[in-house]
Amino acid sequence: MIQGGVPIRSSHAEISAEEYERQRAYADAVRLLPKRPRSYCVVTYGCQMNAHDGEKLAGLLRSMEMTEDTKEHADVVIFNTCCVRENAERRALGNVKWMAQRKKEQPDFLLGVCGCMAQEAGGPAEAARMFPEADFIFGTHNLHRLPEYLLRALTECGQVSEILDDEGACIAEDVPSVRGVKHRAFINIMFGCDNFCSYCIVPYVRGRERSRAADAILREAEELVADGVQEIMLLGQNVNSYGHGREDGASFAALLRRLDAIGVPRIRFMTSHPKDLSDELIEAMADGRGIARHIHLPVQSGSNAVLRAMNRGYSREDYLTKVRKLRGAMPDVGLTSDLIVGFPGESDADFADTLALAEEARFDAAYTFIYSPRKGTRAAELPGRIDPETGAARISRLIEAQERGTQAAFKSLIGTRQTVLADEISRRDKAHVSGKCGRNISVSFPGDAGVIGKFVDVTITSAGHNTIKGE
Ligand code: SAH
Ligand code: SF4
Ligand code: F3S
Repeated sequence: MIQGGVPIRSSHAEISAEEYERQRAYADAVRLLPKRPRSYCVVTYGCQMNAHDGEKLAGLLRSMEMTEDTKEHADVVIFNTCCVRENAERRALGNVKWMAQRKKEQPDFLLGVCGCMAQEAGGPAEAARMFPEADFIFGTHNLHRLPEYLLRALTECGQVSEILDDEGACIAEDVPSVRGVKHRAFINIMFGCDNFCSYCIVPYVRGRERSRAADAILREAEELVADGVQEIMLLGQNVNSYGHGREDGASFAALLRRLDAIGVPRIRFMTSHPKDLSDELIEAMADGRGIARHIHLPVQSGSNAVLRAMNRGYSREDYLTKVRKLRGAMPDVGLTSDLIVGFPGESDADFADTLALAEEARFDAAYTFIYSPRKGTRAAELPGRIDPETGAARISRLIEAQERGTQAAFKSLIGTRQTVLADEISRRDKAHVSGKCGRNISVSFPGDAGVIGKFVDVTITSAGHNTIKGE
């Protein structure tokens, strides 16, 4: 099968035991160097998938007996980049340049670049042009080889750079990871994306869709729960197509049911693609004990013409039907979304359809973006570019409409009881604690450090701008 000009060859193969052994030997070699880095900082941009990759980089660096420090002081700084929109790229480029100045003051300071921008470069020559200051560069398919790159950067002259193409992409099962928070954890259930939405660079930098074995996911979840994790976020670019192409017949709904049965206190997942949201999944959510009543379901546009040009595979009517089914099965479900304005050829009428859909779907929140052309994607070749002023005007109208929607959703929760996983002492008020309810809305309530990491039943008393308050 060919989509977006790229042949689709899904492989669910795992990295070999010998490869892990080799990397462990490199890690040992780094540890034994007389002059070696003692501290690290990983700076991550982009989505939760990348955030979890950042946790794995930190896990590997700790396995080499390094401790975390700030980017101003760490001996090694790694920029884990994102290229989904131009502003994400610009920020990373600027920060890498700025960080490179430290090399003048501290000659043994090491600067690494990885993630989607590095992968997008495609090869060492282009990567070196993009990041001439970096000591080592690697892509999204070879993160587990960090020990090898670090050892080479410490012992060889010149830039170390390796970017594998998708053919070599395997599933890495055994990479250590450091959690940002003790009571919450990410689990990758799949990697890559085969959807080729016409605006999106992700399939080109994350490769073909491949799913992990359900047993491996369950084992990881059991270990995390035994380690005190209260909430697990299952990650994939399109979790609803989990298991697709695997021979064991795995499906996302079945995976959710199995995870729920082992007693994960709270399960979240993202991202769901509307075209693959099945009745079976809605039933599994509705039946679940620990499955959070929240779904992030990016619609992107409310116009059928734009949805077609985006290659999304559903119409506004299909989307709204699925929203009705979700609410029919779970009246208390919270819905969030992503919306793009200014896609090539988007007319005033198309934009009006997006505004109307956002109102009709009643999102708790939505991330809104101005379309950013990405080189190599099909939409970048389309005529009908929208001028920046029109894009800016449309996004501010959409944000305004969504803010009204968010306020209405928050107000509707006043008087209800919500189970909140307490995350931290509230930044605004030290006598309050904040956390997320099942619907993924921030709730603040009177409390102290003793409840952090625990579930607390809270009655909602008022609605603020970004959070709701309770007792
Ligand atoms: N796999 C997820 C996340 C993809 S990236 C999904 O399908 O939803 C997150 C969001 O970035 C997308 O949902 C989309 O709204 C936005 N996005 C992706 N490419 C973009 C581009 N070229 N310009 C503007 N927004 C974009
Ligand atoms: Fe990009 Fe579409 Fe894949 Fe999401 S589903 S990562 S928007 S191509
Ligand atoms: Fe960005 Fe890569 Fe995620 S492009 S959004 S970090 S998959």
